[in-house]
Amino acid sequence: MFRVLVTGGAGFIGSHLTGALLQQGHRVTVVDDESTGKRGNLAHLLEHPHLTYLAGSVGDADLVRDLLADVDRIYHLAAAVGVALIAREPIATIERNVYPTELLLRETMKVAETGRDVRFFLASTSEVYGKNPKEKWCEDDDLVFGPTKRARWSYGASKAIDEFLALAYWRQYRLPVVIGRFFNVVGPRQTGAYGMVLPRFVEAAVAGKPLRVHDDGRQIRCFGHVDDVIGSVVELMELPAAAGRIVNIGSDEPVSILELAERVIAAAGTGAEVEFQSYADAYDEDFEDIRRRVPDLTLLHSLVGDKRKYNLDAIIGELIEQKKVE
Ligand SMILES: NC(=O)c1ccc[n+]([C@@H]2O[C@H](COP(=O)([O-])OP(=O)(O)OC[C@H]3O[C@@H](n4cnc5c(N)ncnc54)[C@H](O)[C@@H]3O)[C@@H](O)[C@H]2O)c1
Repeated sequence: MFRVLVTGGAGFIGSHLTGALLQQGHRVTVVDDESTGKRGNLAHLLEHPHLTYLAGSVGDADLVRDLLADVDRIYHLAAAVGVALIAREPIATIERNVYPTELLLRETMKVAETGRDVRFFLASTSEVYGKNPKEKWCEDDDLVFGPTKRARWSYGASKAIDEFLALAYWRQYRLPVVIGRFFNVVGPRQTGAYGMVLPRFVEAAVAGKPLRVHDDGRQIRCFGHVDDVIGSVVELMELPAAAGRIVNIGSDEPVSILELAERVIAAAGTGAEVEFQSYADAYDEDFEDIRRRVPDLTLLHSLVGDKRKYNLDAIIGELIEQKKVE
């Protein structure tokens, strides 16, 4: 049984992770400033005797010191997430994604120096690969960002700084850090409000409204179920061979965004239609997208095996059924 801190635990992935950790018998403290997450995501767990919920920011140094006083495992998920949010709030994106990680790592190191076995998981993202043109992205591949005047790259660049820092703590002090580069993660409780494509499509299709496909819809993505992703994360955290490593996590089943829309429409059965929208209308004139984003999962599978229980049709089916009863 561990004492675990989950930052961003009221968010989409964090709320699922919190549930899984409680189910495994751990004591969990969640800290979340409810900027994009909400306490309601944990409604089914708030009465759990092993859960402590704190509304607050991981940018608050006093709070972070208090939180770390008696934990063994830190899952750092708090961040500004979502392409639409990043385009709208580039300053907050950089501030939220860099300073709290620096603070958490520094304070975790102090705890480690007392002799306690603490481990740190950093939720990073496939956005760090930027627009690398390779068919499949491997953890050692180059990061290829566009110009700094295009705000969307600030998300990947800020997470890349987090990775550099986490790796530096491993290299200099042997602080056990694991970095998970999540590809598109989807599942129940994900909101479409910040630009996430699948919840947007499901909501529109179930309501019989048009599904807005950006540009020509030929962008390639892979969608992994949150339960599958979390299964890997929790196992990686405890694996000595994963310490100091970056690991791609997600699905490697490619689908174009247009095909995704068509599959969602077919599963919803409401006769909804596709409507194309330019990037300029969806975001702004400066927006630049990533055409293809597919992970190489060789490292993940060699460390923890293939945890996938859901393929894309199962994911779409689950989300549509849930939306219909909401
Ligand atoms: N969902 C995906 O497809 C995906 C893909 C790649 C990476 N990630 C990473 O996974 C993590 C979780 O993402 P998510 O999809 O659950 O997003 P989310 O927005 O649902 O969760 C982020 C949570 O962090 C909280 N938060 C933000 N800043 C905070 C702060 N300073 N202090 C405390 N709480 C704060 C938000 O309120 C929210 O609850 C993020 O680090 C994100 O970069 C997600």
